[in-house]
Amino acid sequence: MTIHFIGAGPGAPDLLTLRGRDLIAACPVCLYAGSLVPEEILSHCPGDARIVNTAAMDLDAIIAEMQRANAAGQDVARLHSGDLSVWSAMGEQMRRLRALDIPVSVTPGVPSFAAAAASLGAELTLPGLAQSVVLTRTPGRASSMPEGETLINFAATGATLAIHLSIQNLDHVTESLIPAYGAECPVAVVYRASWPDERIVRGTLADIAGRVGEGITRTALILVGPALGGEGFTESCLYSKDYDRRYRPLHADSPWADWSHGDD
Ligand SMILES: C[S@@+](CC[C@H](N)C(=O)[O-])C[C@H]1O[C@@H](n2cnc3c(N)ncnc32)[C@H](O)[C@@H]1O
Repeated sequence: MTIHFIGAGPGAPDLLTLRGRDLIAACPVCLYAGSLVPEEILSHCPGDARIVNTAAMDLDAIIAEMQRANAAGQDVARLHSGDLSVWSAMGEQMRRLRALDIPVSVTPGVPSFAAAAASLGAELTLPGLAQSVVLTRTPGRASSMPEGETLINFAATGATLAIHLSIQNLDHVTESLIPAYGAECPVAVVYRASWPDERIVRGTLADIAGRVGEGITRTALILVGPALGGEGFTESCLYSKDYDRRYRPLHADSPWADWSHGDD
């Protein structure tokens, strides 16, 4: 008997891995974070599955559900939105389950920052502009930030920022970032990426707050950085005609010439 943590993706029901779908179909119990996991994904549950929306439950009650299933020898599909590696609350559930000696597995999901980038048709790491993506947030009512993890510190790197859980702090976000990125730095706000009511608002650090207005108050990502402009970047060496590389040696005495025919 295992608790299977499964990333349920950003919203579109078909942005679920095949492994996740098959596990859901095999589990007689499904616990899902109802605030962001689309109901259509529950159609993969067996017809007689016990399906519990955990949105209004506390940690004790969720673990009690898992213990009940464990005692009955039933596998559990535990669904969280996006991927489990960021802001999923998987860590605290796992810690309790390990203490109880209840086995777990983890199946990744499509994270919302990747879905938002796909909706924008954007690569977040454009050569010469940005080679790092920082997944971060601003402090919320229930969550403070560790010292040092400030927008100002991250901005000093010039990386692309994918700012979660922060649309209500948009003014603070832009004020913090303008000194490092400049007022004209491109920004995109993606609301409910991949859901049918998805919205995209593009602008600059100077005008994005006005463009977003009062219309978007939750479930949005703020993407900031020069890469969002999609211009002024260099081409990568990967596909350059002149770049000698492992999979495309340019001449017979290339260090890659023999290697490329190996089995690695
Ligand atoms: C509790 S976190 C969940 C993150 C999730 N584990 C992931 O992999 O993206 C919720 C935040 O993620 C972002 N988010 C989640 N789904 C989203 C979507 N479909 N479109 C845009 N942002 C989304 C928003 O910033 C939202 O406030």
